[in-house]
Amino acid sequence: MVAASAPGKLILFGEHAVVFGEPALSVAVSRRTAVHCRPGERATVNDEPLDPGRHPYLAVALRWGDPTRPLALEIESDIPVASGMGSSAAVTVALLACLGNPRGPLDRETLARGGFEVEHEVQGRASPIDTTTVTEGGGILLLPEPEEGLLWTIRRDDRVWHLHRCDLPPLTLVVGSTGIEAATGPLVASVQARVDRDPSAREAVARIGAIALEGREALVHGDVARAGALMAENHALLNGLGVGHPLLDKLVEACRPHAYGAKLTGAGGGGSMIALTDEPRRVTAAIQAAGGTPYMVSTEPRGVVRNARA
Ligand code: PMV
Repeated sequence: MVAASAPGKLILFGEHAVVFGEPALSVAVSRRTAVHCRPGERATVNDEPLDPGRHPYLAVALRWGDPTRPLALEIESDIPVASGMGSSAAVTVALLACLGNPRGPLDRETLARGGFEVEHEVQGRASPIDTTTVTEGGGILLLPEPEEGLLWTIRRDDRVWHLHRCDLPPLTLVVGSTGIEAATGPLVASVQARVDRDPSAREAVARIGAIALEGREALVHGDVARAGALMAENHALLNGLGVGHPLLDKLVEACRPHAYGAKLTGAGGGGSMIALTDEPRRVTAAIQAAGGTPYMVSTEPRGVVRNARA
């Protein structure tokens, strides 16, 4: 039996724009997915036959293993599915960690690259932000140019992402899930179509990238008021790109009196929003009263680990 677990993630600034190679900032969070693998007669997930329609990330990731030795997978997770909290990246990277040599050291760069390939294949188009964040843990900054703190560089087509470690002060974040599951691939494709036909959408993508850099500066210097204002601007730009949802707006609005700022996080179209606050109980109550499901999370320094239960 081999087991591995990986944390969830939240994108603080820059989702969607990062797919075009713009800067983005994300952080691993204190919820995890664990994958336990043992040899089986056929591939199974929690004792059911593996269904690639239901588990596309697992089906693609398993191709990185030995096809002649089917695996029985047991998945345990406290990351809500399709909520913008990185459940697919966590399960993908944890499984890839199980498929490597169980006695060798974990090669995080190879896992992050493999995880990106899997996400790219399943979603049709993707950035490496989710898979690098859950692999490495802590804060991650994607930049079009390398800087101090460079972890690795990933290229695809004409896009290049330099992935950096980014030390952030501890942040209190409350996630508000709409409970509406929206697949990432079609949302990413819809933003691409909008950018192709509308120059102002291209400008919005560039402004989101600039916000990610300004947001990093604000957070690193403890200027949470500025970070909150940037979150509000980022949220409005994402709405303009067509990935918002009325319930996300309602949750963002409900948090306003008790938060520095709030915005949708991840692919949108439903999914979740985040609020940056030092009144997490009030924000939690506000999200609940507005019809969302709140999750209080803290930042998580530990990325993927092998042979540890979630
Ligand atoms: O909602 P999630 O966790 O799948 O995040 C998607 C983030 C996007 O920027 C929309 C896509 C990507 O691959 O970066």
